[in-house]
Amino acid sequence: MQITKQGDQLIIPDHPVIPFIEGDGIGKEITPHVQQIVNSAVERSYAGKRTIAWQEVLAGEKAFNKVGSWLPAETMDAFRTFRVGIKGPLTTPIGEGIRSLNVALRQELDLYVCLRPVRWFKGVATPLLHPEKVHVTIFRENTEDIYAGIEWAAGTPELKKVLKFLQEEMGVAKIRFPETTSIGVKPVSVEGTERLVRAAITYALKHRLPSVTLVHKGNIMKFTEGGFKKWGYALAEREFPDRTFTEHQFRQIETERGLQRAVEEYNVAVASGKVFIKDVIADAFLQNTLLKPEEYSVIATLNLNGDYISDQLAAMVGGIGIAPGANINYDTGHAIFEATHGTAPDIVGKGKANPCSMLLSAVMMLEYIGWNEAGRLITMSLERLFESGYGTSDLARFMEKGKELTTSEFSQKVIEFL
Ligand code: NAI
Repeated sequence: MQITKQGDQLIIPDHPVIPFIEGDGIGKEITPHVQQIVNSAVERSYAGKRTIAWQEVLAGEKAFNKVGSWLPAETMDAFRTFRVGIKGPLTTPIGEGIRSLNVALRQELDLYVCLRPVRWFKGVATPLLHPEKVHVTIFRENTEDIYAGIEWAAGTPELKKVLKFLQEEMGVAKIRFPETTSIGVKPVSVEGTERLVRAAITYALKHRLPSVTLVHKGNIMKFTEGGFKKWGYALAEREFPDRTFTEHQFRQIETERGLQRAVEEYNVAVASGKVFIKDVIADAFLQNTLLKPEEYSVIATLNLNGDYISDQLAAMVGGIGIAPGANINYDTGHAIFEATHGTAPDIVGKGKANPCSMLLSAVMMLEYIGWNEAGRLITMSLERLFESGYGTSDLARFMEKGKELTTSEFSQKVIEFL
């Protein structure tokens, strides 16, 4: 049975087909365990009334070796048809002209949100004094920005053409070393901003979270990043007037009626459960996450900022190796949940692979399809395991009295602790 979408609602059958890519390198070692843990949690939660019908689809090295293609059309069709899937890490093919498989999947299905929840698990080593204050969910825009891949290399005829256009037709005189420069383009649109910010606000409302922060560099890049901020606020005020209160509105009230009045209106809004929409410049945000992480809840940001922010926040809670992620199109419902690390060729076959990034991505998937009980069981099991000092070698060696387990021992323990 396939997952469908009616209006805003995903329709989840009791036995949905979930396509999965096993993944290259350590993918082979973690994916079967993740499936086993998920199956156990689902069984415990729903006693057979609900099950997942896993369907393997090929991608990466395994696909190339079996069918001669890195990303067979059938794989793309399966994700398109069944809507929700999960993937292990994939080897990026080396050679010009071959796209990253992850990028190809994101682009084909227009998965415009890269979703990264960040939290700390008690017991996991961290550089912070108060890692328990970090509860952040990052909505990173996935399709635009300087990451769109529109660039020309220095010295090429294409670059000369672009340069000529800029200098002669657009009057650009600011390119410092025109003879040796490469040029990239940074597209940021109203639609791209709005769908991302809409998804972030909807998520905050659904999960009763206090704020959405627009993180940007609009002070320098006024029309692109500044546009993101402006359009983000406008969307909140237009589409969610009764459910949000914005910093932009706060400032307006402050200017017209004074600070005290603005604070009063803010307090009323917060007390009535409205989400506060605010913004911060990206560099200040990175400092603030270390100094006062409790001020941030849901983050909406552009592609490049989001890349840096995701890794910094994951590292703050010691979770860079266990951070989960997903790429989602909230309009069509398409979503691919994924391990955020690579194929870890240096530890393949050594029993050292940590399954938690993919496992927590599977938890996100269970929550996405509304099977919260099963997701919660797995999260609680991990909380107890980490608190007891259990971990694969990457985590156990930094834990106080850490008890190192192999990939399969750790996975069995997760099932035991469910
Ligand atoms: P990597 O993430 O595979 O490895 C970096 C370091 O982290 C290594 O020391 C590795 O042993 C360790 N590590 C990663 N995952 C781990 C886990 N689950 N448990 C324990 N230790 C873990 O990054 P690298 O070496 O840069 O890339 C290797 C390959 O993976 C490349 O082909 C790259 O393109 C690909 N890659 C794929 C990604 C994806 O499919 N989402 C993401 C990043 C890289």
